[in-house]
Amino acid sequence: MTEEIETGAPAAEDGQGLIEKLTSLAKRRGFVFPSSEIYGGLNAVWDYGPLGVRLRRRVRESWWRRVVEGRSDVEGIECSILMNPRVWVASGHVDAFTDPLVDCLGRCHMRWRQDQLDGDRCPNCGGALSPARRFNLLFRTFVGPVEDDTARVYLRPETAQGMFVNFKNVLQSTRQRLPFGIAQIGRSFRNEISPGNFIFRSREFEQMEMEWFCSPGEDERWFDYWCQDQLQWFQDLGIRRENLRLRPHAGEELAHYALGATDIEYRFPFGWGELEGIARRGDYDLRRHQEVSGRDLGYPDPITGQSLLPYVVEPAVGVDRTALTVLLDAYDEEEVRGERRVVLRLAPSVAPYEVAVLPLSKHADLVGPARQVAAELRGALATDYDETQSIGRRYRRQDEIGTPLAVTVDFESLQDHAATIRERDSMEQVRVGFDRLLEVCREKLGLAG
Ligand code: GAP
Repeated sequence: MTEEIETGAPAAEDGQGLIEKLTSLAKRRGFVFPSSEIYGGLNAVWDYGPLGVRLRRRVRESWWRRVVEGRSDVEGIECSILMNPRVWVASGHVDAFTDPLVDCLGRCHMRWRQDQLDGDRCPNCGGALSPARRFNLLFRTFVGPVEDDTARVYLRPETAQGMFVNFKNVLQSTRQRLPFGIAQIGRSFRNEISPGNFIFRSREFEQMEMEWFCSPGEDERWFDYWCQDQLQWFQDLGIRRENLRLRPHAGEELAHYALGATDIEYRFPFGWGELEGIARRGDYDLRRHQEVSGRDLGYPDPITGQSLLPYVVEPAVGVDRTALTVLLDAYDEEEVRGERRVVLRLAPSVAPYEVAVLPLSKHADLVGPARQVAAELRGALATDYDETQSIGRRYRRQDEIGTPLAVTVDFESLQDHAATIRERDSMEQVRVGFDRLLEVCREKLGLAG
C-alpha cells in the first residue's frame, strides 16, 4: 500500500524516561500493544488492549456528549475512509499535504523532517543531509483489480472533508440553520515522516472533529468560544490547567486553508506540543468543493433569500493523543511505607474501571459474596473483579491502572454484611454496609445527585 520508509525522530532527552515508563506500563497492564508484535510490529502503528479500549471509549463518549449530544445545534455523521479522490484534489491535500524530507548522506541513511531539526547535520550520526524534497503524507491504494492512476484512491488524512462534502445533505435532511455544526469521530491515516513518542504521532489514528458553520463575520467570536470550550473539556477530563496552554499560530505557520489557528498545547515530557488544533477555515473548503464538483453548496439565507457560503470554525483533536495526555498527566510515583507506589490518578470519568471488588483471599466463603457484590455494582459502574494474588499486589495493580475505588470483602463481612471501600489517592478506608455500597461509591466518584 505504501513505500516502506525507515525514519527517525530527533531524540528528546528531557522526560523521555516518563514516556518509556508509561509505554511499559501500558503494555504490561493491557492499555496499548505494538501492532502485530509477534512479527516485529509495524513502525508507528498501535493496538489497544482491554484497558486502552475502555479509556478511549470514555474519551470519545465524553467528547461526543459535550460536542454533539449535549447540544441541539450539532449533528453527527460517519463517513467512509475511502472517498472520491477528487475530494483530496479540491481540499488541497494532493498538492499541499507535504512535509520536507531530508536523507542522511553519512553513515546511517536515516530520514528526517527538515522542519523538526535544529541544525543541518544528521541528529543520529552527524552526517551531511540531502537537499529537502516535498514528501506527500497521503496513503494511496487502488479500488478494483487494475492498479493504475484511474483507480487510485486515498486513505483519508482527516475526517473533516466528510463534513464539507455532506454539508448540503445534512442541511437538507435536518432543520438546522446557521450557526450549526457537523461532527464525526473516525480513523485517519498519515504517512508521517517522523512518527514517535509512543502514541503521540502515529500513522493510523482516530480524530474527533467538528465543522462549525456560521455567518461570515461571526467566525472570530465562535473561534474564541470553541477555544474556551475545548480548554474546559480537557480540564473536565482531569488534565491539570497548568499543563495546558493556548498557542496562536504565527502567520507563516498557518495551514493552506486557515485564516487563523490556535493550538491547545500540553506540556509533554518532550516539551509543549499540540493536543488539539482549532482553526478558522473561512469558506475555503465549501468554495473549493463547489468549484471542483460543480455543485451549488450555498446556504440560502432565510431572511435575505440570498445564497452565501458559510464560514467555518473547526476544533480537531485526536483520540489517541488525548488518551496519551490523560495517562501522562495522571502518572505518579510515591513512597509508601518504604515501597514505591505507581499510581494513575485518573479522573473517574476516564478511568477504565470505576471500582474493583477484591475478596481478601480466595477462600470459598469470601468469593461468593464478593462476586455478588461485583455483579450488583456492575449494573451501574464499570467494575473489575480480582481474586488472584495477595491483597497488597491487587491494590497495587488497581493503583497502576487508575481505578479510583477498591471494595474489599473480608471475613468480617460474613457477620456485618459490610465491606471496606479504599480510595486510590488517599488510600483511606471506610466500612460500608452492602446495601449502601453503590450509593457511597457513586458519591465518592462524584456521580451522586
Ligand atoms: N482537520 C484538521 C486537522 O486534521 P490537525 O492539526 O492536522 O488538523 C488535528 O489534526 C488533531 O489530530 C491533532 O491536534 C492531533 O490531536 C491529532 N493528530 C494529527 N496527526 C496525528 C498523528 N499522526 N497521530 C496522532 N494524532 C494525530
